[in-house]
Amino acid sequence: MQSKKEKLVQIHEEAAAFYHQILMNTVTGQAALDYMTNRGFTQQTMQEYQIGFSPSNRTALFQMLKAKKFDEGLLQESGIFTDRQGQNELFDRFSGRIIFPLRNAKGQTAAFSGRIMHASQDDETGYHEAKYLNSPETLLFNKRDFLFNFDKARSEIRRHSEVVLFEGYMDVISAWQAGVKNGVASMGTSLTDEQNRILTKTADKIVIAYDGDRAGVEATKRAIEILERNKHFDISVFPLEAGMDPDEYIQQKGPEAFAKALKNNRETVIQFYSRYLKMNLNLDSEKNRITYIETMLKALASLDSLIERELYMKDIAEEFGIPIDILQKQLKGYQQDVL
Ligand code: UTP
Ligand code: MN
Ligand code: MN
Ligand code: MN
Ligand code: MN
Repeated sequence: MQSKKEKLVQIHEEAAAFYHQILMNTVTGQAALDYMTNRGFTQQTMQEYQIGFSPSNRTALFQMLKAKKFDEGLLQESGIFTDRQGQNELFDRFSGRIIFPLRNAKGQTAAFSGRIMHASQDDETGYHEAKYLNSPETLLFNKRDFLFNFDKARSEIRRHSEVVLFEGYMDVISAWQAGVKNGVASMGTSLTDEQNRILTKTADKIVIAYDGDRAGVEATKRAIEILERNKHFDISVFPLEAGMDPDEYIQQKGPEAFAKALKNNRETVIQFYSRYLKMNLNLDSEKNRITYIETMLKALASLDSLIERELYMKDIAEEFGIPIDILQKQLKGYQQDVL
């Protein structure tokens, strides 16, 4: 006897195969296939991630699964369909969208995310519908402990004891195609404690590679706060200019440039923090300069490495023309606060 979970997985795998087949081999899927191809994704990548397309016929998937004798109550519970509205048929909630199967840590398809096609990728305002639509929470899918690509990336993460944390599936898949195979994404929402716990068991180093826009920078700060709680990770940040995300970086500069930059251009948490503060404080004002310096000194007070601290103290002393012994005195005061 199959358990309910196993049956739900089976429904998802049937659905994923259906969507994938439509994307790759049908007229219905042609525009979506062109869209993905224009974005630089290869056939091999689309097969690897079993990317698909949900047709505008909203009951086609239901008919197919019904013909395969899946229980209707179970189909309803899968989260793939919207609530029945009087008819005898269930409507596919992802209709008209490009489909990303969301696989759990065992590699089983447990949920889907669907992207609308008509929205341009830079214009994130004025959408009438969400750009991405995800499955609701089900017996199989819990957003809080889900990490996109963890099933495929795990062995590579272990090998280097390092994980790259992206914001979007597109970034993960694009990075994978560029040869960076230790990437995962945290489902758009900022990192959760559950996701942190899973990653802590798998790696010692983490590189945050969120989008360069304000939302990405704010999410980076929140992710660092969560990751720092258990003092496990060596954390660094891959800085991107505003208006760019890792996928766009790869499109513009190429896969080799990306892989190289990701390895070599990394900020420490303190460097990120300085950039973050400067983004939010106009340093033309005396008051803001004082706030900046004091906030940086407080952050430096909690650093374990005296060498790292000394280097940043020197930078601040030079940048603001303050004698380093004054900075040191002030920092000592903050250390007493910490102890
Ligand atoms: P982004 O808006 O940065 O998407 O959201 P993206 O990965 O760059 O996608 P493209 O390049 O425009 O196609 C990052 C993540 O936030 C979640 C998704 O998990 C997405 O991967 N998100 C975003 C949603 O869940 N719903 C949305 O409407 C938008
Ligand atoms: Mn460890
Ligand atoms: Mn974003
Ligand atoms: Mn993005
Ligand atoms: Mn993008």
